[in-house]
Amino acid sequence: MRFSKSDRIVVLTGAGISAESGLKTFRDSDGLWENYRVEDVATPQAFHRNPELVWEFYKQRYEQLKTAKPNPAHFTLKKLEDFAQTNFSLITQNVDGLHFQAGNNNVLEMHGSILRCFCVKCRNNYPISDVDLEKPIPFCEKCKGMLRPDVVWFGEIPYHLEKINILLQKADYFIIIGTSGVVYPAAGFLQTAKYYGAMTIGINREKPANYYLIDKFYLGKAGEVLPKLVDEWIE
Ligand code: OAD
Repeated sequence: MRFSKSDRIVVLTGAGISAESGLKTFRDSDGLWENYRVEDVATPQAFHRNPELVWEFYKQRYEQLKTAKPNPAHFTLKKLEDFAQTNFSLITQNVDGLHFQAGNNNVLEMHGSILRCFCVKCRNNYPISDVDLEKPIPFCEKCKGMLRPDVVWFGEIPYHLEKINILLQKADYFIIIGTSGVVYPAAGFLQTAKYYGAMTIGINREKPANYYLIDKFYLGKAGEVLPKLVDEWIE
């Protein structure tokens, strides 16, 4: 298999692509959801009930991110974007910003980013670097409303869905990397892409829940498998 420059390539990544950067996934053993309950830290109701606990969770995520660097899988996607240019699109469920750090430009962060916050009252945005994380709950400088991480929680609608839908419909290749395929709507993208004619490809350390929709599956670590595959695909 070989990509041509006119092929439309759409990639969806999940927490697994950042595992080799030292960031915990959600559902692997010792994953984040083993130590925290989703309903306590990743829903709007949780934030309403106990914003301090939610902030504690995201502050830890931010602390870990400070030392994390993109790994070979991230850099390989930058190489793929350089090859396919505007025919390449990267959709990520990750909130860690590592795809941008690796140099990718065409990135849709459908679950937001922990590098940003916004005020729940006036919606003013802040880069996390401007926020005083020593405070149990940071507040808006303009209106004194509570700030929250700009991440999409369970029960909220992900970002960029209209754009993503168009990309999936036009894709020649749809590649999922490091995602368990259990969280919708992202878990449903394979079905849409396949229905509209894309070849579907998966790279994961285990078979994801939507494995049956994948035409070509490669079992292994993204940082080891992806660089070799992309070299073959774009040679
Ligand atoms: P999960 O933790 O559910 O799944 C990560 C997947 O990556 C698993 O299938 C692992 O086997 C695989 N994996 C682990 N290490 C890998 C590696 N080095 N190379 C390749 N694969 C590897 O994470 P997501 O599918 O991203 O949402 O989770 C989706 C959403 O659920 C997240 O965005 C988050 C979470 O709850 C919200 O918080 C809204």
